[in-house]
Amino acid sequence: MSSSSAKPLAGRRVLLIVGGGIAAYKALDLIRRLRERGAQVRPLLTDSAQEFVTPLAAAALAGERAHTDLFDRESEADIGHIRLARDADAIVVAPATANLMARMATGHAPDLASTVLLATTLPILIAPAMNVRMWQHPATQRNLATLKADGVAVVGPNEGAMAEAEFGPGRLAEPHEIADALETLLAQRAESPGFGFLAGRDTPKKPLTGRHVLVTSGPTHEAIDPVRYLANRSSGRQGHAVAAAAAEAGARVTLVSGPVAVPDPAGVTVVRVESAREMLAAVEAVLPADLAIFAAAVGDWRPAETRAGKIKKDGSTPAPLQLVENPDILATIAGRSEGRPALVVGFAAETDDVIVNAQKKIARKGCDLIVANDVSAEGGVMGGTENTVHLVAREGGIETWPKLGKEEVGRRLVARFAELLTAKSR
Ligand code: C5P
Repeated sequence: MSSSSAKPLAGRRVLLIVGGGIAAYKALDLIRRLRERGAQVRPLLTDSAQEFVTPLAAAALAGERAHTDLFDRESEADIGHIRLARDADAIVVAPATANLMARMATGHAPDLASTVLLATTLPILIAPAMNVRMWQHPATQRNLATLKADGVAVVGPNEGAMAEAEFGPGRLAEPHEIADALETLLAQRAESPGFGFLAGRDTPKKPLTGRHVLVTSGPTHEAIDPVRYLANRSSGRQGHAVAAAAAEAGARVTLVSGPVAVPDPAGVTVVRVESAREMLAAVEAVLPADLAIFAAAVGDWRPAETRAGKIKKDGSTPAPLQLVENPDILATIAGRSEGRPALVVGFAAETDDVIVNAQKKIARKGCDLIVANDVSAEGGVMGGTENTVHLVAREGGIETWPKLGKEEVGRRLVARFAELLTAKSR
């Protein structure tokens, strides 16, 4: 495996913590094996490890300096124990002594190795090695169970003849076995990021953590009289899906929604409104926001007057309905000179010339991005469960996505918005 040209650990950075014990010498061979497989290895030796192998030997084999001391001025200034705990793809502890396992299991951190192990959220693989009785002691077995429950991966120990002429489990796994176990751990991580050590804590920070996201959704109802209104076919599904995805991405989300039948998304503050003017007032009240997504199908017009009483059918020709234009919420917010959200996104439902119309809309409304949905692809009807969207940016970029479920569109949109927001705040 190690001689194949496609190196299985190519580009992987491994922090190798070497514990004290006669098996520490095998850690030197492990460094070689890991490097043969393409890994970069940064060694860290405990005090007792240094009784068996020298930092110089480890550094020479690793081609990197070996770290040893928690209060090493040079190292703290240069790398620091917190960076040691982060700057790798995985931590391998080999040999993991009974003492080191006990410190890991209890969170006791008197030295550099145990401090790094306490501070890290990286995947950890331990290769225990110790006297057979120490291994079999209930305390060690308890610690082992705790570490496994915390998601620490374990390789070995193997059975065999031990240093003190004893026989049984306690021998360090062979370097190639440790390297294989590391490959397996990293592969499992790639498939399932939540798997393993302190599952979930080591997943990347959610991309919208700390952001306030405002979303408008649904139709508006423009009252004609107490029982009648002007509305449109918007279901609110897409806007609600975007709000849900933004909350999943870690944002604090305020959803300003017109009347809809879809349920409130989890973890989102919902402000319910009816008319466009109420929606505008609600939006202004919830700003500031970092990201504003205007997915509502706001009625363009409203009756010039709303009758206080129900208009009666009296056999004569009804008076024509006079309409006046509603405020454009998107344009109002995008045009703010102060307190404009860093990223303002509009939606457009189009039946033809989708892209050209979206570009015109960006210019007219002053937003950064338009999510144009091709209503003709849905048989010319709004309100379905799927969407075919084009992402049109003010700078000219256009992305066309395949037809997808609205939840998936919401997730993908939020991922793109988070990238753009991050790029803007750099
Ligand atoms: O002009 P049009 O209605 O096609 O623009 C659609 C975009 O503008 C959507 O993002 C919609 O939420 C927003 N809009 C608005 N206020 C209006 C009309 C549209 O925020 N009065």
